[in-house]
Amino acid sequence: MASPSLLSLFCIFSFLLGMAHAHYLFPNFYARSCPRALPTIRTAVYKAVAKEKRMGASLLRLHFHDCFVLGCDASILLDDTATFTGEKTAGPNNNSVRGYEVIDTIKSQVESLCPGVVSCADIVAVAARDSVVALGGPTWTVLLGRRDSTTASFSAAGTDLPGPNLNLSQLISAFSKKGLTTKEMVVLSGTHTIGKARCTSFRNHIYNDTDIDPAFAASKQKICPKSGGDDNLSPLDATTTIFDNAYFRGLKEKKGLLHSDQELYNGGSTDSIVETYINTATFFRDVANAMVKMGNISPLTGTKGQIRTNCRKVN
Ligand code: HEM
Ligand SMILES: *[C@@H]1O[C@H](CO)[C@@H](O)[C@H](O)[C@H]1NC(C)=O
Ligand SMILES: *[C@@H]1O[C@H](CO)[C@@H](O)[C@H](O)[C@H]1NC(C)=O
Ligand SMILES: *[C@@H]1O[C@H](CO)[C@@H](O)[C@H](O)[C@H]1NC(C)=O
Repeated sequence: MASPSLLSLFCIFSFLLGMAHAHYLFPNFYARSCPRALPTIRTAVYKAVAKEKRMGASLLRLHFHDCFVLGCDASILLDDTATFTGEKTAGPNNNSVRGYEVIDTIKSQVESLCPGVVSCADIVAVAARDSVVALGGPTWTVLLGRRDSTTASFSAAGTDLPGPNLNLSQLISAFSKKGLTTKEMVVLSGTHTIGKARCTSFRNHIYNDTDIDPAFAASKQKICPKSGGDDNLSPLDATTTIFDNAYFRGLKEKKGLLHSDQELYNGGSTDSIVETYINTATFFRDVANAMVKMGNISPLTGTKGQIRTNCRKVN
C-alpha cells in the first residue's frame, strides 16, 4: 500500500521539520524570506559605527542585556506604557543602554524590504556581530529564527544582569544561571575591550579597592569625583574603539576599570583563563563561540512570540 506509507513518511518528515523549526536557530533562516536582510543590517551598523565608534560597543551590549533577561527575545526593546513597565528603566539599563534608535532604523529598512518577516531579536543578534567586526574583532555565523516577546520584565532585568560590584563567585553564578561556563564568563567580559562606563559604575573600584594600580586609580579619580559626576565617562580599556586583547593585558596590570573586571585577575581561579586570552587568536576564537552560545539563550521559536512590526511595541 503505497499511499499510506507515503503519507506516514510525509507526516514523519513534517514532524521533524516542525521540530527543527520549533527548537533550533539556523544561519539560513531568512535565505528565502528576506535575502537582503543581513546585508541591510550590516550596512546600517557600519554606517552607525562610522558615525560614532562607541555605537558598536553599545549594540553589542544591547544583545547581552536582551539575552540575559527572559532570553534573546527583544524584550529589552519594549517601551514603557501607561499600564506596562519594561526593562529600559531597570537599574542596569536606565541611562546606560544605548542603540535603540539604530535598531529602529534597521527595523524600518528591513520592514520595507520584507514586512513582518525579520524579528527584532535577530536584528539585535546580527547587529552585535557586525559591530564587533566593524571594530576589528572576529566574525561568527549568527544563528537565526528568534521571535519577539510580547512581554518584558523590569524585575528580571534587575536581578539577572550582573552588576559591576559583584565578586568572582557571584559573576560565575550569574552566568551559570544562564547556562554559561566560567570560561565563557571570562571571555565574554573581554568584550569590555570596546566601549565606556559611567563614573557611577566604577567609583567604588577606584576609591575603595586595593587591587588597582595607584596611578591608574588617581587618573580615573580625576574624571570621577567621590560625589557628583555620575554620568562622566571612562573607556573600559586602553584601546576603547578597537576590539583587541588590551582588556586582558590591562587586567594583568591591575588596570581593570570595574570592580567586576579586576575580579577576573585577582589571585583567583580565573587568573589562568585571563592569561590564555592575552593570545589574540585564542580570545577571538573563544569569544566568537561564546557569543553564539549566548545568542542561544531561551529563544522564542516556531509559533511562540511574534514578529514585531515596531521593535518598541507589541503588535
Ligand atoms: C561579567 C559581567 C558583566 C558586568 C558586571 C558588566 C558590567 C558593565 C557595566 C557596569 C558597564 C558600563 C555601563 C555604564 O556605566 O553605563 C558595561 C559596559 C559594557 N558592557 Fe558589560 N558587563 C558584563 C558582561 C558583559 C558582556 C557579557 C558583554 C557582551 C557580551 C558586555 C558588553 C559591554 C559593552 C560592549 C559595554 C560598553 C557599552 C557602551 O559603551 O555603550 N558586558 N558593562
Ligand atoms: C531612570 O533614570 C531617570 C533619570 O534619568 C530617573 O528619573 C528615574 O527615576 C530612573 N528610573 C528608575 C526606575 O530608577
Ligand atoms: C561574594 O559576595 C557574596 C555576597 O556578598 C558573599 O556571600 C561571598 O562571601 C563573597 N565571596 C567572596 C569570595 O568574597
Ligand atoms: C566605599 O565603601 C564603603 C563601605 O562599604 C561605602 O560606604 C562607600 O560608599 C564606598 N565608597 C565609594 C566611593 O563607593
